[in-house]
Amino acid sequence: RKPVTVPSLHAMKAEGRKIVMLTAYDASFATQVEQAGVDIALVGDSLGMVVQGHRSTLPVTLDQMVYHTAAVARGLSTTLLVTDVPFLADRDAAYALEAGARLVGEAGAAMLKIEGASPHILEAIHALTERVIPVCAHLGLTPQSVHKFGGFKIQGREHDAAERVYNEALAVQDAGADLLVLEGVPAALGERITKALKIPVIGIGAGPQCDGQVLVIYDMLGITPGKRPKFSKDFLAGRQSVSEAIAAYAADVRSGAFPAAEHSFN
Ligand code: KIV
Ligand code: NA
Repeated sequence: RKPVTVPSLHAMKAEGRKIVMLTAYDASFATQVEQAGVDIALVGDSLGMVVQGHRSTLPVTLDQMVYHTAAVARGLSTTLLVTDVPFLADRDAAYALEAGARLVGEAGAAMLKIEGASPHILEAIHALTERVIPVCAHLGLTPQSVHKFGGFKIQGREHDAAERVYNEALAVQDAGADLLVLEGVPAALGERITKALKIPVIGIGAGPQCDGQVLVIYDMLGITPGKRPKFSKDFLAGRQSVSEAIAAYAADVRSGAFPAAEHSFN
């Protein structure tokens, strides 16, 4: 197939074709993701939890993201590679650019994902996109804000909170983001933001109306320790192999079969 690119993702939104995104942390899983025809591989800082065993994503360092991103890049050829800027992407004005130089220049990512919409984050999004590094924003239940939220809690349930997430979505688009991951918000808010934005919106626990879906690969293979998040689904259950499970996930996202009502929040 032709390589997936930032312009081709915009075309998919325009044509109403669902975008399939899945995390990967090493070359072997990246190869499985590539062969299943997933559109976007995400080196998520969720690796701090599912690979390193931490309770949150906060301990993950830029060096570790570079290491995992380079490994994933070696397993891909046509899949777009997005990687997370770890905790405190806005620690200073130059940091986002250093992350760009290392994750895109050194490790081979095509796009950086950054959580939040604070003034500093909007500046970082703008600074990166000005230097032709595409940015994927990330709003809603942003896991790097776990201490502020008091846990991994659904965001945007009350009217004011929903308005805040909605306005943040418009702001990250204005700052230059080319993609938005929207996590852990009511399905109605996911639909409203998806309709309002020109850029594609990839949901995780944000309802079925988003332009695409993303999951943590170990969640959708049923091997993440502990309770499976409500918004995820074990696609390996009843199937013979990892490659079949990933292909079933991709098919269900494209057909709209996933996420079902049971994976969404009201
Ligand atoms: O780190 C991650 O895996 C993520 C996705 C859950 C969107 O940010
Ligand atoms: Na992340």
